Amino acid sequence: MADLHIAILGPQGSGKGTQAALISQKYEITHVDLGHELRDRQKINDELGKVIRETISRGELLPDHIPFKILKEKLENIKKGFILDGFPRDSEQLAMTNEITTLTLALYIKISDEEAVKRLEKRRICDKCGKIYTWNEGMSSICECKGNIVQREDDKPEAILKRLALYHKETELLIREYSDKKILREINGEQTVEEVFSEICTEIDSIL
Ligand code: AP5
Ligand code: MG
Repeated sequence: MADLHIAILGPQGSGKGTQAALISQKYEITHVDLGHELRDRQKINDELGKVIRETISRGELLPDHIPFKILKEKLENIKKGFILDGFPRDSEQLAMTNEITTLTLALYIKISDEEAVKRLEKRRICDKCGKIYTWNEGMSSICECKGNIVQREDDKPEAILKRLALYHKETELLIREYSDKKILREINGEQTVEEVFSEICTEIDSIL
């Protein structure tokens, strides 16, 4: 079986993290989640931690070299395949990715901005393991790993709108680049989690 080198992209809230976790489990490949790595790194109280914390909470992107260094270190330790979530985010980052690996599949999860905003307002995550939740009345505030279930700093209205605008300006251009390389597969993200996953599995199985 060929190694899977997948990138997952789509607007904020399209379900990249949710689906990448399922893909990683089913196909036994590593989920490289740059947002999660950066949120972990920001807990360290040094200059870099401060820059990451402030940039993320404003809904802006970090300078390329910061996520790229994390990506390189992660990829060096991967034996089988991987799914990249949150990198690359623009053409420069795609060029950086191409220097260290070759992508074999790009999954584009398509949802509207209205749906994205609705989902992000209700998203909660575990501050320890990063598990993703949708808020509902009476849900526990403690994750099964004993971490606290919290709202992300960048899931506040002003930051959400800024992140979506940046996505349309920078990241969406990658759809064309992946399509030119013939590795793009478009997935309808406005279905249940299970239905989206089923569509994704059909695409992955078709290249195995
Ligand atoms: P990152 O953490 O990657 O955030 P993002 O790109 O904004 O994407 P999200 O994580 O918000 O959305 P998602 O698609 O993963 O949705 P999820 O599965 O959680 O990056 C955060 C920040 O880090 C960036 O803004 C930047 O500052 C920095 N950064 C990261 N990478 C960088 C890079 N390469 N360069 C520079 N800076 C970088 O789902 C959302 C919600 O919807 C959840 O509640 C979930 O339960 C629910 N949901 C999922 N699927 C469904 C469904 N089918 N139906 C209903 N609800 C669903
Ligand atoms: Mg995510």
